[in-house]
Amino acid sequence: MAAATPTSPWGSGTPDIVVGPLDLAARVDEALAVQALAFGLGQDEIDVRRHIVLRHLDHPQARALGATAADGRLVGFVYGLPNDRAHWWSTVVEPYLRATGSDDWLDGSFVITELHVHPDFQQRGIGRSLITTITDAVGLPRSILSAIDTESPARGLYRALGYRDLARQVLFPSAPKPYAVMGAALPLRRPV
Ligand SMILES: CC(C)(COP(=O)(O)OP(=O)(O)OC[C@H]1O[C@@H](n2cnc3c(N)ncnc32)[C@H](O)[C@@H]1OP(=O)(O)O)[C@@H](O)C(=O)NCCC(=O)NCCS
Repeated sequence: MAAATPTSPWGSGTPDIVVGPLDLAARVDEALAVQALAFGLGQDEIDVRRHIVLRHLDHPQARALGATAADGRLVGFVYGLPNDRAHWWSTVVEPYLRATGSDDWLDGSFVITELHVHPDFQQRGIGRSLITTITDAVGLPRSILSAIDTESPARGLYRALGYRDLARQVLFPSAPKPYAVMGAALPLRRPV
């Protein structure tokens, strides 16, 4: 388990928070409670997400990390899995990436499926520590993800880590807002 400390170049700057492996299937409700606060999900959306998360975790190469406070409380998490062109997310983004000549990013890429930090713990380096630590261990040359296509803290974080826009205004069925698909070479960029 990697402690996120100020001595780490990409640490959380929050020595009381530990970033390490997370049994996401066992703690899915805690994780979704964090996501609900961070991202603004209603109970109906949480119920849908619960099924999706548990299905993703069936994938043998799915990985999850949690950020845990000293009292054991989960304050952030990240999870993802290697992209598979047959997966729903990949089939949605593929035509958009093909249109920008970047659909090769769908091969050899680790997809960041979710990254959320509890609002009370944001802007302390925890998000950076979670995504950097998980991608460091995947053994793939690059990473892709989708984020709501607006100037958000998430988009700022991803750019700071080296992610760039591969496609914009990507529409997922049932999602009210368009997304940007972003990709970065691994390992992710460290702060200078
Ligand atoms: C995105 C999120 C996970 C970032 O987590 P965090 O722990 O607050 O981020 P960090 O403290 O590690 O920030 C790292 C970098 O991200 C960027 N960043 C973070 N918060 C930011 C903000 N409010 N505005 C602009 N940039 C921001 C900065 O580049 C920052 O580096 P710096 O501190 O050296 O300037 C968090 O804001 C969150 O949970 N948001 C809501 C859920 C969400 O949007 N998830 C992503 C879905 S795609």
